[in-house]
Amino acid sequence: MKFCILMGSPRPEGNTAALLAPFLEECGMMGVESRVISLYDRTVNPCLGCRACQDCLNSLGCIQDDDFEEIFKAMEDCDVIIPATPIYSFFCTAPMKALLDRAIYAGTKNYGAVRGPKLLAGKRLAAIVTCGYSPEKGADLWEEGLKRWCRHGGLEYMGMFCRRDMGGAFMNEERAQAVRDFAQAIRMSIRGSEL
Ligand SMILES: Cc1cc2nc3c(=O)[nH]c(=O)nc-3n(C[C@H](O)[C@H](O)[C@H](O)COP(=O)(O)O)c2cc1C
Repeated sequence: MKFCILMGSPRPEGNTAALLAPFLEECGMMGVESRVISLYDRTVNPCLGCRACQDCLNSLGCIQDDDFEEIFKAMEDCDVIIPATPIYSFFCTAPMKALLDRAIYAGTKNYGAVRGPKLLAGKRLAAIVTCGYSPEKGADLWEEGLKRWCRHGGLEYMGMFCRRDMGGAFMNEERAQAVRDFAQAIRMSIRGSEL
């Protein structure tokens, strides 16, 4: 089983990274392969809206030459896509938004007259989030956006793990254990559906 973690925080020592550490450790202990792609270390330019991708039914067909295609391949080549992001202005960070824009557009071939495939159809997605407000007020719009993104792209949305940054120490034992449990729940849910 393989997880593809899309790391959307600019802070390698920040809160999102702090949640990811025990999550990844748990993945290793469960024998789940995990690949972390740090979006701030890559270049994914914003979508230009040129629609060239809609003329290309079985491949991405994006005219931009950056890291998008390689990251999309990693998304295709896993069992669960895991966007991990802090909330910025009630949504994800900018590199994550650029990636999602391009992945949903180039990956869903039905934006014009054509009715083509959804390249990520059947994939699963689970989110890891940190925010300053309570999750209900800080991460609700992001979660709703992700749910619709999944529905549109034919992915299965598996849920969100979100913890609040209250300004003091962010990590504690309860949070570390809870994010480990989240990793286990994802794996169990997939194994359950495969039995
Ligand atoms: C530019 C910026 C915008 C933010 N906007 C929000 C927001 O709209 N809602 C919210 O709940 N928290 C917001 N926050 C707080 C962060 O989501 C929170 O501190 C998060 O844990 C930071 O994660 P990191 O340490 O991985 O960067 C914002 C933080 C920054 C720096």
